[in-house]
Formats: sequence, C-alpha cells, structure tokens
Amino acid sequence: MRILGIESSCDETAAAVVEDGRHILSNVIASQASEHMQYGGVVPELASRRHCENILPVVRQALDDAGLTLNEIDGIAVTYAPGLIGALLVGVSFAKGLAMMSGKPLIPVHHTEGHAAANYLVHPDLEPPYLGIIVSGGHTRIAEVLDYTTFRTVGKTRDDAAGECFDKCARAMGFPYPGGVHVDQAARRGDASAFRLPKTKMEGNPYDFSFSGLKTYIVNLLHTADQRGESVNKEDLAAALQQEIARVVTEKTVAAAKALGYRQIALSGGVSANSGVRNALLAACEKNGFTLCMPPVALCGDNAAMIAAQGYYNYLAGITADETLNAVASKELRGETAGICS
Ligand code: KG4
Ligand code: ZN
Repeated sequence: MRILGIESSCDETAAAVVEDGRHILSNVIASQASEHMQYGGVVPELASRRHCENILPVVRQALDDAGLTLNEIDGIAVTYAPGLIGALLVGVSFAKGLAMMSGKPLIPVHHTEGHAAANYLVHPDLEPPYLGIIVSGGHTRIAEVLDYTTFRTVGKTRDDAAGECFDKCARAMGFPYPGGVHVDQAARRGDASAFRLPKTKMEGNPYDFSFSGLKTYIVNLLHTADQRGESVNKEDLAAALQQEIARVVTEKTVAAAKALGYRQIALSGGVSANSGVRNALLAACEKNGFTLCMPPVALCGDNAAMIAAQGYYNYLAGITADETLNAVASKELRGETAGICS
C-alpha cells in the first residue's frame, strides 16, 4: 500500500511516498529555515505563505521521484496537529483537495506520532509495544507506544521543549536560527565541566520535563557577562548545555523504561539529531541491556516520510477523516483524549 504523506506544520514543506509504512519511495523537503533565519525564529505568517507557494511543486516532485501518478497512490496522509495553525491549514486544505479529486482516503496524522514513526522507516524489526522518547522543537515526551495507533504519555514538558531550550540558548550565544545544530557543533570543541549548570527540581510526575529554568539561567548568564564586558567561552557553555539536556532526557527515559518494564526504546524528533543526546542514551541503553532505535539524522527533523509511515498504520486501524477535517494547533496523542478522529 502506497501512502502519500504531506507535512506543513512548521517551516518545512514536505511530501513523500512510503510503501507499507516502511519503505521510502520518495522524500522531498523544501526548508524555509534560511528565510526565517534573518528574524531569529519562524515567522508564522511567512511560513504559511511559503507553504502555499511550495506545496504543489513539492507534492508533484514526491510523486515524480517515486515514479507514480496520483492514481497509483492508495491514501493521502496529512499532518493536521499540532503546529502553527496557518501552516497546518495549507497542508490540510491541499490534502483535502487531492483526496476529493482522486477519491483516495484522507488520513489525519498527529505530528508527534509521525516523529515516532520515523523509526519504522529504518528499523524493520521495530514493533510496538515499546517506549518512545520524542524530543523536538515544540515537544518533549516519553510515551508508551502500546500499538501503532495507541499512545500513553508517561511524561512531557511542563514548559519549554528541549529543542526550544537549545534554540533560545543558541540565540543568546549568537548562533543563527535554528540554533540546536550549532550548539551541537560548538559542543564538540568545548569542555562541559567548565560550567556548573543548575539541575531542575520538580514535584509530581518524575517523568515530566522542565527546561525553562535551564534556558533562563543560560540567557541570564550571557546577558550578565555582556553587561560586565566579560567574555564567555561559547564552546564550553554549549558543551555544558548539551550535556545537561542529554542527561535529563537519558535519566528520565531509562527510569521510565525500568519502572514500566520496557526493554525496547525508540528515540525520535528533531533533537534526536543531537550527538550528545544520541550518545548518552545509547550508552545508558547498552549499560542497562535495552535496545535503542533512533532515526538517521536525515529523518530526525520534520519530513513527510514519517507522516506517510504513521498514515499507513492509521489507515489500517480505520483512522481516516472526512471532508470536515480541520487543523488543530495543540492536541494530545491518540488514545489519550477523544480526538476528532478517534
Ligand atoms: O522535530 P523538529 O524538526 O520540529 C518540531 O517538531 O518542533 O525539531 C526541531 C528542533 C529545533 O529546536 C532544532 O534546533 C532542533 O530540533 N535540532 C537540534 C539538532 N538538530 C535539530 N537540537 C540539538 N542538536 C541538533 N543537532
Ligand atoms: Zn517536528
């Protein structure tokens, strides 16, 4: 079964064709990052306009690269939540039009569930149940993936996502948007022990995350140094920041896996490209005898192949949408609340 996936939740216009949820036939991404860079972050209105311009050529390219016509596609999967509403609306409206004119089923996909599905594209043996850790620019979440379409959140961020923390700290360090990857590169040359960063203490659910305190500490440290005319070693600070985020993500994930009895862990989301997070989680999984899956860096960030992969499993589970499908800016994972399609 061949699914055309469409993704437009943030600043990537993407389309892909995936066979049986596991094999990428094409994967096209038009990134707007260089344009948003001059503003230091994503400008929602600009993102919507660029999606509008890019969506048709990107979808056409995905079909061409796969060597298929729309008639040879079995379903159209689209990210409908969460994300920037104007950006999502472009993909949703376009997918609805395609579904209407082709008579193919329309399959709604939650963006975070899509990130988790990126692992199916490269790990043929990965099957639920497993413990997912999804770390992106907008979300940080540990979730039990009970079956392909049922998720149970174990812990999530109470404030900033890990990616947001990376990006805001990166901006204060003078790196361009999106800053996470620059922190990663600078960290390789830095000494993490040069800074002692505060460890966030939280009451309640021990698997929840909070990164805003860390972000505020680093931004204040840089501002104070700037006001005093002192210089800060950005490479050391980047290394310390990365080490702390990697430590938190790793410790909570491993603790949740032990508590819930999971031996299979799957990391995903834009921040799963981070070398510190990858290495720390891998080392901890090896130490504890857990199996860790993670996507190659190229499939960590936003793409439509992951949307098509999750779309395939949604379709098998009978999750399709009718012509009233709408975009939703914020939404829990499937199985947690009665969603529009559950
Ligand atoms: O999943 P994603 O592409 O978009 C959302 O769904 O949010 O994640 C984007 C985030 C950004 O915050 C970006 O800086 C971060 O992933 N990111 C990284 C790295 N590559 C991307 N953060 C740290 N290290 C990286 N190598
Ligand atoms: Zn994403």
